[in-house]
Amino acid sequence: MESVIEIQHLSKSFGNHEVLTDIDFSVQKGEVVCVIGSSGSGKSTLLRCINLLEKPSGGKIIYRGENILDDRHDIHSYRKKLGMVFQQFNLFNNHNVLNNCVVGQVKVLKRSKEEAEKTALKYLKVVGMDQYVNAKPKQLSGGQKQRVAIARALSMEPDVMLFDEPTSALDPEMVGEVLKVMKELAGTGLTMLIVTHEMEFAKEVSDRVVFMDKGVIAEEGAPEQIFNNPKEERTKEFLKRTLK
Ligand SMILES: Nc1ncnc2c1ncn2[C@@H]1O[C@H](COP(=O)(O)OP(=O)(O)OP(=O)(O)O)[C@@H](O)[C@H]1O
Ligand SMILES: [Mg+2]
Repeated sequence: MESVIEIQHLSKSFGNHEVLTDIDFSVQKGEVVCVIGSSGSGKSTLLRCINLLEKPSGGKIIYRGENILDDRHDIHSYRKKLGMVFQQFNLFNNHNVLNNCVVGQVKVLKRSKEEAEKTALKYLKVVGMDQYVNAKPKQLSGGQKQRVAIARALSMEPDVMLFDEPTSALDPEMVGEVLKVMKELAGTGLTMLIVTHEMEFAKEVSDRVVFMDKGVIAEEGAPEQIFNNPKEERTKEFLKRTLK
């Protein structure tokens, strides 16, 4: 198997508060990994360290064989390879749907406008938003906005997509349409690392589930194992609390 990202002994502190301790795990090419765990367990911080929105305090992030935390490493070329979808969409409100998916391609990837538009349309179709190219974000529902945000990230044709609770800011009736798109993406062989509170989704879609507790990976394994036969007491307790 080929690791896309391999995390070794990663730690992160804010002042004296260590929020990630000795994190080791990897994401293989084509794998869908869901990260679950209580609020405050460090899930977002882990994703933010992986895409360097936060600077890790220690450890290594190996991407395609190189530690990207090495001073000499070209961080920009690494970050181009990561697609990120946030809870709060973060669309450009002054741009229409198509442009939201075009600007990054032109600016960062130096694609021509024509090529960028063609690529954007391809991915807007994937998420079922190609009918809305001229709409502004404020005219869209939350679920539609999040689908555009996914298309925007996909338009950069990243090696791996990171999702941080992409459905937690949505009205309940809109969660399904976003999860459906993500399920379809998972079926295409896209490499995905997903922080989620949607346990049914995690069970159904992931190849592997990582359970975080108080800044450490308490347990990881196949979804059937984690959900049906957890080994650790704290996994059992978390699932008991969450699933009922
Ligand atoms: N910028 C920051 N400065 C100081 N502390 C922070 C910062 N960001 C996160 N923390 C702390 O790190 C810990 C982990 O937070 P994090 O947001 O990673 O948790 P989480 O698992 O994503 O939680 P949730 O499920 O609520 O999103 C928390 O105690 C939080 O208060
Ligand atoms: Mg979080």
